[in-house]
This record gives sequence, C-alpha cells and structure tokens, in this order.
Amino acid sequence: MAQGRRTSLGRSTTLAPMPRPATTAGPGAFITIDGPDGGGKTTQAERLGEHLFARGVRVLLTREPGGTWLGERLRDVLLARTSTAAAPTDPLTDALLFNAARRQLVEEVVRPALDAGTTVICARFADSTLAYQGHGAGVPLERLHALAQVATDGLTPDLTILLDLPVETGLARKAPGDVTRFEAEFDLGFHRRVREGFLAIARADRDRVAVIDATAGIDEVAAAVASVTDDRLSPGIEPESARVRSTR
Ligand code: TMP
Repeated sequence: MAQGRRTSLGRSTTLAPMPRPATTAGPGAFITIDGPDGGGKTTQAERLGEHLFARGVRVLLTREPGGTWLGERLRDVLLARTSTAAAPTDPLTDALLFNAARRQLVEEVVRPALDAGTTVICARFADSTLAYQGHGAGVPLERLHALAQVATDGLTPDLTILLDLPVETGLARKAPGDVTRFEAEFDLGFHRRVREGFLAIARADRDRVAVIDATAGIDEVAAAVASVTDDRLSPGIEPESARVRSTR
C-alpha cells in the first residue's frame, strides 16, 4: 500500500496510493517531538505518523531546522562543524537563524497543512531554541520568546512530546557521521543545561508537554508516544483521508 515510502524526514512521500480530498473543515493538530540529542526524535516522529495513519489520520511529517528548501540550506550551515579558523558562532546569531528557518517552515508548510485539516508532526520546534540557545548558551529567555513570537505569529503546538534521556546516553548513541556542531563543539555542561531546560519547559507547561523516558527500546517508546497522543488529542484528531507525507 505504501507508495514512495519515506526513509527519513527529509523526503516527501505519500503513503496512501489514492489520497482522497480532505473532508474535515477544522484545523489539524500540531504535534512537536523535542528533547536532547540522541533521543530518537526522527524515528519516533515516523512511528507516530504511522500510528496516526493507521487510524486514518492525514499526517505531514517535517523537521527543524529544515522542512523547506531554505530551511534545509540553513540546516546545513547551522549544523556544520566550525572550521578551525572560524570564531565560535554567537548564540543569538544561532537563535536568529533557527528562527528564520522556523518562520519559513511555519508559513510555507505548517500553517497551510493545519488549515487544510492535516495533522503536522514536527521533529523539534521553538522549545529547542529556548533549551539550546537559552538554557544552554545563555541567551535571555525573554529575548527568545520575543523572537519565537515573531517567527511563529504565536503558533503553539497542541502537544509536545519531550523525549528525555541522560545526555551521556544520548550523545553516545550518535553515529560519527550524524554528529552536529552542537554535539561536537559544546561540552557536557552545556548539554546538561539543555536537558534541564527542556524539563523546566515541561514543568511549566504540563498541559502541552508530555515527558517520555527515551532510554527504553524503540518499540516501547513508540507505544508510550502513541498512547499519550491518543489520550491527549483524540477528540481533536479526526480520521479522514489517510495520508502521510514529509517535507524538506
Ligand atoms: P537534529 O535535527 O539532528 O536534532 O539536529 C539539530 C541540532 O540543532 C541539535 O543539536 C539541536 C540544535 N538546535 C538548536 O540548537 N536550536 C534550535 O532551535 C533547533 C531547532 C535545533
């Protein structure tokens, strides 16, 4: 049944061979999956997409930074290891660039999909900037809230799944080819502050953020993610044309 099935969030794909026109009038649900590095966000976003697809929900998978042509170019720049000649990137500069990618994603992909009744699952969103550039790198949180407000026009996830795990475990999971500037050039103290930042965000917004232990196996985590999504969003997610696609 799958047609052009995606293998990563970077590919555009439709799972159902004959997509039907949207039948629901209401907006889709906006779900983000966030957390420290190595928590399995990409895998779990895909698994949640498949879970919702099986229930007949039309789903769009995307990621940050990325999900658009411009966003993927910014991703390359933001995640590239700094050359030895380059000065370290200023954290507010990082925050501006992540928010530039976010703005393009929201305008080009997320809002149109939600307006069309599609449920959007996004790997990382504005919480990542608060955790990494704010709690981790020290940019004042109020400045980051202001930037996010500009970038998103106030768009907030209906549900955020926080995949939590000790930073040593997460960093050890990364294959050498997947190591980003943040993993390679920031110390353990930075990553611990990032994790604590995510947990502080979750404590302050329990209605939106569900914390899931990401140290368990993939299937166990996927079951927990599916269960919390069903519990929290069931009334808001209307099964309709069964379709999963992803963007870059
Ligand atoms: P990932 O997509 O493999 O998780 O890599 C994205 C990296 O970018 C990750 O190390 C976290 C970092 N990041 C930020 O520092 N701020 C942000 O706003 C976002 C979206 C990501």
